[in-house]
Amino acid sequence: MTYQEVVEAARPKLGSYCKACPVCNGKACANTIPGPGAKGLGDTAVRNYQKWQEIRVNMDCLVKAGPIDTSLELFGRTYQYPFFAGPVGAVQLHYGKEYTDMTYNEVMVSACAENGIMAFTGDGVNPDQTIAAAEAIKKSGGIGIPVIKPWNKDLIDEKMALVKAAGASAVAMDVDASGLPFLKNLTPPAGAKSAEELKEIIRDAGLPFVVKGIMTVAGARKAMQAGAAGIVVSNHGGRVLDGCPSTAEVLPEIVKAVRAESDMKILVDGGIRSGLDVFRALAMGADGVLICRPFVTAIYGAGAEGIQTYIQKIGSELKDIMEMCGARSLADINSEMIRL
Ligand SMILES: Cc1cc2nc3c(=O)[nH]c(=O)nc-3n(C[C@H](O)[C@H](O)[C@H](O)COP(=O)(O)O)c2cc1C
Repeated sequence: MTYQEVVEAARPKLGSYCKACPVCNGKACANTIPGPGAKGLGDTAVRNYQKWQEIRVNMDCLVKAGPIDTSLELFGRTYQYPFFAGPVGAVQLHYGKEYTDMTYNEVMVSACAENGIMAFTGDGVNPDQTIAAAEAIKKSGGIGIPVIKPWNKDLIDEKMALVKAAGASAVAMDVDASGLPFLKNLTPPAGAKSAEELKEIIRDAGLPFVVKGIMTVAGARKAMQAGAAGIVVSNHGGRVLDGCPSTAEVLPEIVKAVRAESDMKILVDGGIRSGLDVFRALAMGADGVLICRPFVTAIYGAGAEGIQTYIQKIGSELKDIMEMCGARSLADINSEMIRL
């Protein structure tokens, strides 16, 4: 199956909001929430995609020929590629009835693990979602990272117990979820956390902890000082705040500040749609990336086969760019390979 066939197969299965566009650039879905769009005018999601395209890559073919190694070691596990499926919650609400959060995670987690990468799983108001995600990760030998919302401490502790029992190598929290309209005014509440609260959550987690939703140097420093093992530079795909800079715009300054002080892992997401975009992010100093919405299209199009097709597509594009820019391993990729 080609990726184009996967996208075409997805179109009739998706709800009315997602148009399964040939390039998922945030334009057709713009401000649709519910749906896969973004908050306000939807400007942040469009900008996320656009800013990667403005970065050009430098060709260098005067390099010793040899195999291309795309493997990445992260939190004690080695993956075939440095890109991962991003977390998605409430798939039925945003994309249509083909999947529930339970069946989505079951297929996504196992298909990613079988194809050399891993999936981050989403969280939402349905408590069964984390239970099912943890079960799926356990079945896949612990390959997968659950992302828990910033609930109150009791609920976080409850969900952390599930994550640990699943054997996951790390856990994450989308601290920016406090901007999601449907999470406001809930019981128990989910919302902003102070640096002190985050420190306590990380201490009690007992696993490498990734803070998702960092868009400033100050935010990265707070995560670092709270004991995070990693961050995801992310604006939640524009779903929590319109008028944000794109993640590509803030990544270099965050990398510079973090690298001066620690070896905390830096992941990034938002509008990454090709192996070329993955390369651009790595050349800017990210350790790895998350891709979210296109994985939804892939699974709605052809289930596990769609995910496999998508992983192979992005993986082979990345290998091709690495070869053309003179990188034989991820460690070779550097800022001289791009023009900002
Ligand atoms: C429908 C939908 C649901 C999402 N649910 C979650 C979630 O539960 N947890 C989370 O951390 N991020 C969630 N996200 C944000 C994504 O993980 C990701 O940060 C964002 O979409 C940017 O990546 P992309 O441009 O590749 O889609 C969701 C995004 C969408 C579109």
